[in-house]
Amino acid sequence: MKTITVFKGDGIGPEITDAVLDILKAAKAPLEYEIFNVGAAEYEKNGALIPDAAFASFEKTRVLLKSPITTPVGKGFRSLNVTLRNKYDLYANIRPAKSNAAVPTPFPNVDIVTFRENTEDLYIGVEYKMNDDTVQAIKLITRKASERIIRAAFDYAVANGRKKVTCVHKANILKMSDGMFLDIFREIAKEYQQIESDDKIVDNTCMQLVMYPENFDVMVMPNLYGDIVSDLTSGLIGGLGLLPSMNVGDDFAMFEAVHGSAPDIAGKHIANPTAFLWSACMMLEYIGETDVAANIRSAVDAVLAENQCLTPDLGGKATTEAYRDAVIAHLK
Ligand code: NAI
Ligand code: MG
Repeated sequence: MKTITVFKGDGIGPEITDAVLDILKAAKAPLEYEIFNVGAAEYEKNGALIPDAAFASFEKTRVLLKSPITTPVGKGFRSLNVTLRNKYDLYANIRPAKSNAAVPTPFPNVDIVTFRENTEDLYIGVEYKMNDDTVQAIKLITRKASERIIRAAFDYAVANGRKKVTCVHKANILKMSDGMFLDIFREIAKEYQQIESDDKIVDNTCMQLVMYPENFDVMVMPNLYGDIVSDLTSGLIGGLGLLPSMNVGDDFAMFEAVHGSAPDIAGKHIANPTAFLWSACMMLEYIGETDVAANIRSAVDAVLAENQCLTPDLGGKATTEAYRDAVIAHLK
């Protein structure tokens, strides 16, 4: 039995967490759960977005299934995601975008995994005023952070039978920073002769992605481009309800859907739990429970393919709970 930490979050967070935990239990995932209320509601009540006990649990279990949190608006308020990524050095943000036959889009053959560097670049948030009309922001690129994200992308390609890794950059303009990222990519690529490698400038990448998404496989890039380009890939497959992610470092891993707390539909029992469920599948794969993950993935595929029990975001009428029950009914 492995113990994992679960953050219930805000908005649709509790609904999709309950649905996902029910499915994990029905699939006999060999897990024990330490469950915490975190987020804006918890902040209102106890003055902390994440209680100390919740941090302590994650530090012990090292695996976190995190549902979305409403970011309270306030001066000087630090984003919870930035806090978690920095505190636990979750340097690789991995977002797989794969077409699903049940969700028609103009791009039926998308299967792209983005590796976004998660700790530096412009996101270190160092900006300062040079005078009243001029602000400077610092873009930080280090060899250490570049090497580990690039290596993570190639290791993933090898482990998952992928063919190609593409480095996305703007080294034609940012010759030193992105130039170093690209040089490191080319050095590391030599160690992975079995994997094809190439590189593309980020603006050209965006155009190519919407014209020929089937030409892309694994992509690796600095933080800012990763933020933007991974959202682009999510648009290609048709929706937030279907996008899982993992944030992983050497010691800790956090799994969450890409979407937010969806306050507009919270409490209505119509949220699509699939993105969070697939995040849970990535978690199961990470801890070696690949059979349980495969069982859940094929049950989801079957429910989506039948087209009978879809949540409203996918054009259906099913509640979160009806969808959950349909997935459970298809488990082997
Ligand atoms: P959002 O992703 O919560 O919602 C955008 C739209 O997509 C809404 O119309 C929503 O109903 C719909 N949607 C999202 N997830 C869905 C699902 N699973 N099923 C069906 N429909 C779904 O983005 P928004 O509205 O910009 O942000 C709301 C709150 O979430 C904000 O406080 C924001 O800061 C927070 N947020 C938190 C994140 C996290 O904790 N990782 C990530 C993104 C936003
Ligand atoms: Mg983003």
